[in-house]
Amino acid sequence: MSHGIECNEFGNVALKTGYVVGKRYVVMSRLGEGGCGTVYKVFDLKTNKKLALKAEANCIEGGSVLKLEAQILRKLIGKPQFPQMKWAGKREKFSYVVMTLLGDSLSYLLRLHGSKINSISTQIRLGVQLLHALKTLHDIGVVHRDIKPGNLAMGHPDSPESMHTLYVLDFGLAREFMLQTNGRWEFRRRRNDCLFRGTSRYCSLNVHEKGDQCRADDLWSMMYMLAEMRRALPWRKLQEKADVQRCKINTTDAVLFMNSPSKLSRITSHLRTLGYYNRPDYGLIYEVFLEIMKEEKIKMDELYDWEDYVQQRDAAHKKRQKLPSKKSQAAQSAEPVHSPGEGIRKQASQTSLKSAEPVNPSAEATNDPTLVTAAKSRSDEKGVGEEEINILETQDDPESWGDFPADDFYTNPTGL
Ligand SMILES: Nc1ncnc2c1ncn2[C@@H]1O[C@H](COP(=O)(O)OP(=O)(O)O)[C@@H](O)[C@H]1O
Ligand SMILES: [Mg+2]
Repeated sequence: MSHGIECNEFGNVALKTGYVVGKRYVVMSRLGEGGCGTVYKVFDLKTNKKLALKAEANCIEGGSVLKLEAQILRKLIGKPQFPQMKWAGKREKFSYVVMTLLGDSLSYLLRLHGSKINSISTQIRLGVQLLHALKTLHDIGVVHRDIKPGNLAMGHPDSPESMHTLYVLDFGLAREFMLQTNGRWEFRRRRNDCLFRGTSRYCSLNVHEKGDQCRADDLWSMMYMLAEMRRALPWRKLQEKADVQRCKINTTDAVLFMNSPSKLSRITSHLRTLGYYNRPDYGLIYEVFLEIMKEEKIKMDELYDWEDYVQQRDAAHKKRQKLPSKKSQAAQSAEPVHSPGEGIRKQASQTSLKSAEPVNPSAEATNDPTLVTAAKSRSDEKGVGEEEINILETQDDPESWGDFPADDFYTNPTGL
């Protein structure tokens, strides 16, 4: 018996809204999908908190990516700027990791502008935050290998202390470049002729050349991403990796940073001097960002470019909430729900529940066409219509292998 779950051989798991994982996590909506699984917003019946759950089908070829990801997430427990893993489990059909729920991904937020470019303030302050996160990651011996806007997110807006913090997520392609043996850190030997890992738009030339990825490669991705915030990357329309590679070779820093502060080329010049075993000079990179901030009179606590749009979107949504439809008026008078938690808890013992949460508010109530397009693409991505959640299954799947604490998930790690 496994209604509420569908898996395919590509590792994608479709969990229906209301499905309960491990008797505890109620699926609320789908947050995203990528190469390594599907991410859901879930409600934790034990703590009444919303969390994110990443699921991967067990039937995928080539072994579990999620298991490796969980291994890295475990190392990141207690580190700011990374989702905090709460639980990892394996069931009959799929494995999953439960972690902090973050806010919108940067790929969504940057698209809120439509064709408009981002400000230098947003560009450089994101640079400062990403640099800090990458240094933290590298200092525990891990390279990410797929830094791009879709793998970065801001903190959840429900948490004012983290909503302006940039988070790095998706460790499906991450790799330990150093290992600790008997308390001593040792480099893993550099490999030649590696398989391509990453995203061709953002990866460094070293990755195109099949070099083993190192810390500098994550920083290259950061620089391409920052450059793109001010001007489309010259290779954006090229499909073939070889064409992208050629275009990157032929693109000078002057062209790459044509619409960005020219000082950024000091960072790329530094990156060109680094090999697999070299530690990047994070201090130098930080200094460049700080100099630009000084010159441009940028303050660290300014609003990010998207915040006005997000505020408009949320205000529009609140307004719509204040004018409930007849149907929802009737539903609400039957049962006032003040928080999604309350709704879900109340009804978990029954068969259906209401979530009061305004998930994916669409911007259609505003007059801003950019906002409407962005909101539409967001709702396409994340799925709308989760006001009503029916609990599909409150019992464990009888064939389930059961859940076990995160620790057990890491025994005998393979693929390293
Ligand atoms: N902890 C999280 N909180 C909120 N959204 C998340 C979280 N993790 C992932 N997402 C969303 O799901 C998308 C896909 O997640 P990701 O981990 O990148 O999966 P994949 O390995 O399939 O690319 C992300 O772009 C992001 O929008
Ligand atoms: Mg991803």
